[in-house]
Amino acid sequence: MSEDRYLTFALGKGRLANKTLELFEEIGITCEEMKDKNSRKLIFVNEDLRLKFFLAKGPDVPTYVEYGAADMGVVGRDTVLEENRNVYEVLDLGFGKCRMCVCGPASARELLLHHERIRVASKYPNIAKDYFYNKKHQTVDIIKLNGSVELGPLVELSDVIVDIVETGSTLRENGLEVLEEVCPLSARMIVNPVSMQMETERIKDLVGRIRARLEEKRV
Ligand code: PRP
Repeated sequence: MSEDRYLTFALGKGRLANKTLELFEEIGITCEEMKDKNSRKLIFVNEDLRLKFFLAKGPDVPTYVEYGAADMGVVGRDTVLEENRNVYEVLDLGFGKCRMCVCGPASARELLLHHERIRVASKYPNIAKDYFYNKKHQTVDIIKLNGSVELGPLVELSDVIVDIVETGSTLRENGLEVLEEVCPLSARMIVNPVSMQMETERIKDLVGRIRARLEEKRV
């Protein structure tokens, strides 16, 4: 396809987007427009490199990429797994490292061991369902929450939670602990399958340059 076509990136708003833009800058891809914090603009363009960027809510990033509204995206693995969209995961960016865990009061350990029918609160009902039903073969009731999930066991909404643990301080401050690890997490780059075919060279080149930069930083 022609070099004139824009490659569009959807970035999950917040820390991951900032880290991604830093990384792009390190390989010479800048987007000055995006640095203006007062701007209400939603789409940013680098005319020279024929790139466009937009910021979206994390869980919407795989949606934009699946439908081809963005060729590529950067979002946490938690979101990639939860949304389960038809996208290719091409690169682990290595930042935003944390873990998806089953957490709760120490007393809930017993309930997990004996495969009891427990209540599990989570912002990630699909990940929780997959873990309990397909990996542990334990029938549970999943309760979807939208945040502050640690409240679940504290107010007796649920026995345990499935949530992200980074430093562990939210758990500690609320008398909860990690009971089981579901999977490790970090930021991932995802690509629309059709874009991958139509823009193979540009995407491969870009992913290759980012990978090389990440390797340089690792040594
Ligand atoms: C996330 C996660 C935990 C917390 C873990 O919540 O859901 O609550 O961070 O971090 P820690 O292990 O370093 O304490 P977030 O701050 O994104 O807000 P939320 O609870 O509204 O989802």
